[in-house]
Amino acid sequence: MKVSILGHGVVGKGVWDMLQGNPNFEVVNVLVKKGEKTADFMTESFDDIWHDDSELVVECMGGVVPAYEFASKCIEAGKSFITSNKALVATHGIDLLNLAVKNNKGFLFSAACGGAIPILQNLHLARKSDSIIWAGGILNGTTNFILDSMDSRAIGFDEALSEAKALGYAEFDPTADISGMDTMRKIMLISMVAYDVLPNSDYNVEGIQTVSAFDFEVAKKMGCTIRLVGRCGLSDSGRLYAYVQPMLCSRSDFYAGVCSNINMAQYEGKNSGVMSFMGQGAGRYPTASNILRDMTSMYEGQSHMLKSKCLFGFANNSSKECEGVYYVRLKSDLIPVLESHCGVDKVLCEKDGKKCVITKPVTVKAMHDIAAELRRKDADVFFAQVKG
Ligand code: HSE
Repeated sequence: MKVSILGHGVVGKGVWDMLQGNPNFEVVNVLVKKGEKTADFMTESFDDIWHDDSELVVECMGGVVPAYEFASKCIEAGKSFITSNKALVATHGIDLLNLAVKNNKGFLFSAACGGAIPILQNLHLARKSDSIIWAGGILNGTTNFILDSMDSRAIGFDEALSEAKALGYAEFDPTADISGMDTMRKIMLISMVAYDVLPNSDYNVEGIQTVSAFDFEVAKKMGCTIRLVGRCGLSDSGRLYAYVQPMLCSRSDFYAGVCSNINMAQYEGKNSGVMSFMGQGAGRYPTASNILRDMTSMYEGQSHMLKSKCLFGFANNSSKECEGVYYVRLKSDLIPVLESHCGVDKVLCEKDGKKCVITKPVTVKAMHDIAAELRRKDADVFFAQVKG
């Protein structure tokens, strides 16, 4: 199968390396940035790939512009399309699916969620014979590395982020990693595959911008640590929920054992029970390995992991499945605000005018709304759901 590659950075170069000596694929062209052409197989012009005789294009550039334009042109030119670009799929996945179906071409994107972890392909298979109750997990290597480093090495947030950047885990601009939006995009992809819905409104996202050494001190005293977790699922009434937020989990919990840049993707099938996939969630060869799996699946005849009925939808995070108790650190004089909205079950400690408390049960949507109100008075609020 003739293939061209868009991008020769961390992931694109990994794909190119892994294809050397592979008898099933012949690389026609590789798109590189202006001024970076150093070999005959490279081109600086997308038009060379648009008009070449490749049957499959693999995109590893990242970002929505110009990736969406390039993807559309490739599919319309009769090429199948594989991508590791979660922003592209979370924004235009439904358009690309429709275009691929219309042109009778393939569209796969396993490497856009979880690096090497085969969560999307397994969900695609599992949902054919089982009902997926929920899916998600620890899906961002950068934030997991930061949280684990702050906990196990007692280093500061900024130092841990610099290390994550140097190790190639973080995005070029790590804002999406830290804010939880990178995890949310992965949840969107999971939801598309598991539920035929791309939740593009009313989801809740809380990142780790405000986590502090003090939160880890308190967590440690409780026998817990902190992780960033995303989840989507169906409530009893059949409505979709989708959110990302920090979680306080016991040291004996699975999530506490997910260290460094490792991810753990999970789903619960009605019949299978909880399935967990743990592995490298980012990095050159782990991510490229998932692209190679998609390429091989396409070579063997698979075209899609989405159903053509996949639609945009909204999330409803007010159902009882979204209820939990939260650890909250806030200014002591803001406690009455928290009391009036959800109630405080327990005060854990007080230091330098801040209190750490455990709330009474509250839904994800309500907790995120309360946090937004508290932050209008003081931005330095941290909250994490206490894992049951
Ligand atoms: N920045 C992402 C992460 C890369 O840290 O998980 C893989 O999606």
